[in-house]
Amino acid sequence: MNMRDKITLATLRSMKRDRKPISMLTAYDYPTAQIEEEAGIECILVGDSAAQVILGHNSTLPITVEFLVTLAAAVRRGAPMAYLVGDMPYMSYHVNHEEAIRNAGRFMAEAGCDCVKVEGDGRIAGTIEKMVAATIPVMAHLGLRPQAVHQIGGYRAQGRDADAAEQLVRDAKILEAAGACAMVLEAVPPEPARAIAEATDIPVIGCGAGPFCDGHVLVLHDMMGLAEGPAPRFVRQYGDVRGAIRSAVDSYVSDIRSRQYPGDEHTYKMLAGEAARLAGRFSDA
Ligand code: KIV
Repeated sequence: MNMRDKITLATLRSMKRDRKPISMLTAYDYPTAQIEEEAGIECILVGDSAAQVILGHNSTLPITVEFLVTLAAAVRRGAPMAYLVGDMPYMSYHVNHEEAIRNAGRFMAEAGCDCVKVEGDGRIAGTIEKMVAATIPVMAHLGLRPQAVHQIGGYRAQGRDADAAEQLVRDAKILEAAGACAMVLEAVPPEPARAIAEATDIPVIGCGAGPFCDGHVLVLHDMMGLAEGPAPRFVRQYGDVRGAIRSAVDSYVSDIRSRQYPGDEHTYKMLAGEAARLAGRFSDA
C-alpha cells in the first residue's frame, strides 16, 4: 500500500480554501477501507446507513454504538491515513450531554475516529458545544436527516422553497458557530447548498446536494451497485457488485452440482504410500 500523509481537519479546510473537491464514501469493514485508502479518498464515514445496507433494517434507527464502534475500529485498521468519521446512532446523543460525550468518546478513543457526526438542525447546537468543549470534533448533518424520518414523514429532499432554504442557511451558521468542524448536507437543492458552502468556513460535504459543495459523499453500497432496489436519484452507479457477486455464486453452485468443484488442484494429498496403507485397513481380507 502507498503510504500518504494523514488527512486531518487542516487538510480538509485547506482543500475548501483552494477549491479542491473533497471525496468521501462510507465503509463498514477492513477490506473495503483498505481499497478506499489505496484509492486515496480523503474521508471515510462509518455511517449508521450500515443499519440498512449491511443489516437489512428499513431505517437507520436500530443500530447501536457498540456495533458502529466495532466497525469503525476495523475501518481505521484498514485506512490509517484517511479522515475517519464515526456516525453517532439514533438516541446516542439526544438524551443528555453526558451520554453524548461518553458515546462520542468511544468513537474517538476505541475506534480511532477523527471526528463524530451528529444529525440535527440549529436545535442541536447546545449538544455540539458541549461535545466540542470535551475535545470531540463534531461534523454536523443538516438537510434530510434520516434519523428524523418519522418526524419528516419519509426520505424527502429538504429546503425546496425559499423559506425552508433560508432556514437551512441559518441553521448551518448556527451549527458552525456552535463549533461544528464540518457539515454533511443531505438531499438539498444546489441553491441553498451553494449559499451554505459560501456562508461558512467549514467544509460542506454534499450528499445529493448538487455540484457547489466543498466535497461529496455517497453510501458505498449505493454507488457500487450492491444495495437492493433503486438507489436515490442523486447516486451515480459506479459498478454492479451485486451482479458480480451473483454471477460468482451462481457459478459456484453450478460447479458443485456438476462436480466441477473441488478439482484436483484444490485437494490435499496424503503422504507417499499412506493412501495404500489406509485402504488396507478398510479391506475385508
Ligand atoms: O449514514 C450515512 O451513510 C450517512 C450518509 C448518507 C451521509 O449519514
